Amino acid sequence: MYERRMSEIKLIFGYLLLYASITPTHAADTISANQIVRYNETIISPLETFELGFFNPGNSTNHYVGIWYKKISPRTVVWVANRNTPLTDTSGELTLTLQGVLIIRDATTGNIVWSSANSTTLQVRNPIGQLLDTGNFIIYEEGDRINQEDPIWQSFDFITDTLLPGMKQGWNLISRMESRLTSWKSDDDPAFGEFSFRIDNRGYPQVFLMKGQKVWFRVGSWNGLRFTGTPSLTLNRFYNFTFVVDQREIYYQYNLIDTSLITRLVLQPSGSLERFFWIDSKQEWSLFLSRQLDQCDLYALCGSFGNCNMGKSPVCECLKGFEPTSPDQWKNTDWSQGCRHTIPLDCNPGEGFKEYSKLKLPDTQGSWFNQTMTLVECEKMCKSNCSCIAYTNSNISGTGSGCVLWFGDLIDFKTFAENGDTLYIRMSPLELESTENSRSSSAGRRVRVIVPVAFVVLVILVSICLFYRFSRKKQQQQGTTGNNFRHDPKNRSGDEDLELPLFGLSVLHKATNNFSVNNKLGEGGFGPVYKGVLEDGKEIAVKRLAKTSNQGLHEFKNEVILISKLQHRNLVKLLGCCIEGDEVMLIYEHMPNKGLDSFIFDKTQSELLDWPARYHIMIGIAHMNPKISDFGTARTFGGSQIEAKTKKVVGTYGYMAPEYAGSGIFSIKSDVYSFGVLVLEIVSGGKNRGFVHKEHYNSLIGHAWGLHNEGQSMQLVAKCLSESIDESQVLRSIHVGLLCVQRHPEDRPTMTSVILMFGSEGPLPSPKEPGFYVGESSQHPGQCSSNGIHSNNELSITMLNGR
Ligand SMILES: *[C@@H]1O[C@H](CO)[C@@H](O)[C@H](O)[C@H]1NC(C)=O
Ligand SMILES: *[C@@H]1O[C@H](CO)[C@@H](O)[C@H](O)[C@H]1NC(C)=O
Ligand SMILES: *[C@@H]1O[C@H](CO)[C@@H](O)[C@H](O)[C@H]1NC(C)=O
Ligand SMILES: *[C@@H]1O[C@H](CO)[C@@H](O)[C@H](O)[C@H]1NC(C)=O
Ligand SMILES: *[C@@H]1O[C@H](CO)[C@@H](O)[C@H](O)[C@H]1NC(C)=O
Ligand SMILES: *[C@@H]1O[C@H](CO)[C@@H](O)[C@H](O)[C@H]1NC(C)=O
Ligand SMILES: *[C@@H]1O[C@H](CO)[C@@H](O)[C@H](O)[C@H]1NC(C)=O
Repeated sequence: MYERRMSEIKLIFGYLLLYASITPTHAADTISANQIVRYNETIISPLETFELGFFNPGNSTNHYVGIWYKKISPRTVVWVANRNTPLTDTSGELTLTLQGVLIIRDATTGNIVWSSANSTTLQVRNPIGQLLDTGNFIIYEEGDRINQEDPIWQSFDFITDTLLPGMKQGWNLISRMESRLTSWKSDDDPAFGEFSFRIDNRGYPQVFLMKGQKVWFRVGSWNGLRFTGTPSLTLNRFYNFTFVVDQREIYYQYNLIDTSLITRLVLQPSGSLERFFWIDSKQEWSLFLSRQLDQCDLYALCGSFGNCNMGKSPVCECLKGFEPTSPDQWKNTDWSQGCRHTIPLDCNPGEGFKEYSKLKLPDTQGSWFNQTMTLVECEKMCKSNCSCIAYTNSNISGTGSGCVLWFGDLIDFKTFAENGDTLYIRMSPLELESTENSRSSSAGRRVRVIVPVAFVVLVILVSICLFYRFSRKKQQQQGTTGNNFRHDPKNRSGDEDLELPLFGLSVLHKATNNFSVNNKLGEGGFGPVYKGVLEDGKEIAVKRLAKTSNQGLHEFKNEVILISKLQHRNLVKLLGCCIEGDEVMLIYEHMPNKGLDSFIFDKTQSELLDWPARYHIMIGIAHMNPKISDFGTARTFGGSQIEAKTKKVVGTYGYMAPEYAGSGIFSIKSDVYSFGVLVLEIVSGGKNRGFVHKEHYNSLIGHAWGLHNEGQSMQLVAKCLSESIDESQVLRSIHVGLLCVQRHPEDRPTMTSVILMFGSEGPLPSPKEPGFYVGESSQHPGQCSSNGIHSNNELSITMLNGR
């Protein structure tokens, strides 16, 4: 009995001994209060991904507590506790105190060399430390899993040189704690090195790579998709990333999409930020990404308002609209003084903003931001404060949102070929005026597509208003006034001096029985036409143009009024316009038996315009042209219906410049080309039939070019114009038209010079060979008798049909 008991005791004791002996190599994932982890002992995460314990790096004889990958060799350390306070021997002990503080004690001296917290006011009853498979070591109150989500302490809050998936690098705004990457001093020494990678939140948050106290490389602000200074950071199938800015925290974080992969982002002692993936088959780390810095990444190299472009030599240049502050120093490649506005700002109310694209956005220290404002609100806000120098969306994702405002000098620009950002910088009114043309060239592709049709639309307006003018004149001659056109008292008061009568929408609703289907006369090129009866019994036809947006309507109205000042003695009775809400309508006199229907329905059985009218129209368009993009034609006529038509028009009718048709490259000079085509069309009428390849619309240009070279340009002119013709004007128009359609965009004149050419009688340069776009269009030149302009374009047919 006794013997048996003794043997049991021995057995138990033996188990205890056995247990004790295997503890170091079979460590748990946790450490409880007062438990000691000694030199040869480690804590291992549940799936044996990470291991925590003492180590000595490289050839160093110092000892540290750290976390490394359990299964990866050579040992790759991702976190170090006592990085600045190493142990010089193996007597270190890692303990979790009863207060929930992790400490490293030098057992020889009894000194505490490192602790996770200096003191704690927390009431902790039963703390426990645990190493997770994420590489995070957490301390929490035992017995409550929720506490693991919000631990008392976690190593992830104290990043060293390595950012692991799920770590948050940045600011906890509640505790005001920042966690940043800091490089090791060397491969042997985990002490704080020279370089750090951190988020600066003095303004819209941005990321800096610091060397000591100096900004080494400004990674920049987050634009919703990436950092403005790292355009190559793109979506990939391995990991995703995010940058969060809210009331509680500001941080950068990345996560693995395929969690079987192993990756780390390390700030090397050299200052190089490198991402590695572990290649299991090769048993090695593979460098996935490292940002090679170039000259333009040197912080603020080009000074204020100086832009750095690696494609240029020297790399620094002032932004457009700016000049070197100190030209001599600048010439000697001392760019430190930067640039200043060529025309200084003086808080003039006419100041506005110029768009700059493909940029690294400037330093956001001292900037202001709001993440919910729209770009329009943003501009308004910036405009209202003269010290606001620039603005842009904080988030370019989707359609763009949020607002960042800059005050004072802007520094650290860089030009990127791809994925650059857009900034709007405050400019004096004079500067804005002088850059109007280049601005329109940078307008969106939508505008590019629509611009050619814009000419046509404008010509319609021209003719409408010409018709109106004529009818007015005729009435005045007949002793009547225009007052009977003014049916809307509201408009009468405000717009008394306008040349164009405006109809109220309500009046038209009433007249057309609320645009009843029964009143619909048919469909014209631009929309349905309704018959209506005004209160005084007058019959009208209302052409309801495509829905428009409110924006640009004011401009639309002004342009219509401007155009209406052009005069013409042909007559179609346009009674007026209606511009209200998103509606734009044209109101004609309805005379069913007088062939007006054909005019309204664009069917064109009518006389054509005489020469003076055409000449005025050309000049009118030339004057309009520089404003087209600005005036928001794209927006005004931007409905999907019109857009669809636009595509057709562009694809079929050939106002396209060859470079645009061929490669989609569009510039302001492509507008000029389109204008040139229109001029030649207007001049030629239908005269060139029989001389041209029927397949190619642009043969008109070739024909004009041929005649010009033979000195026979007058032959281009429509015969039916012969009575009204002014030969020198015609020749000049053809000449200008040919200059506009020259093959090389750089040879074509600007629209401003076109206006000057029309307006003067000086000699003109000789046109070079025109550019042709051989499209798929099959177009027969029109006839003099059927449509004044031979274009097959439904829109332009509308525009020049007199009665
Ligand atoms: C750690 O283990 C190694 C080899 O197993 C041994 O040589 C060394 O003395 C141990 N050190 C301590 C402090 O126990
Ligand atoms: C350790 O020392 C050896 C020999 O001096 C050297 O080749 C190696 O690069 C050193 N390792 C580190 C991490 O410094
Ligand atoms: C502890 O106090 C020292 C000296 O005040 C400070 O430098 C250190 O950052 C503190 N450590 C923690 C974890 O708060
Ligand atoms: C990144 O991927 C992880 C895993 O698929 C997912 O849980 C997380 O929501 C993603 N984050 C972002 C910002 O897309
Ligand atoms: C941001 O702008 C929105 C809209 O103008 C406003 O409602 C909100 O209060 C602003 N937020 C802050 C923090 O200024
Ligand atoms: C303009 O903005 C600056 C910087 O935010 C601010 O200090 C100043 O009060 C603002 N001025 C006005 C008139 O709002
Ligand atoms: C940025 O915009 C996108 C698209 O509208 C939105 O999904 C995302 O939440 C925005 N990000 C921030 C930080 O506001």
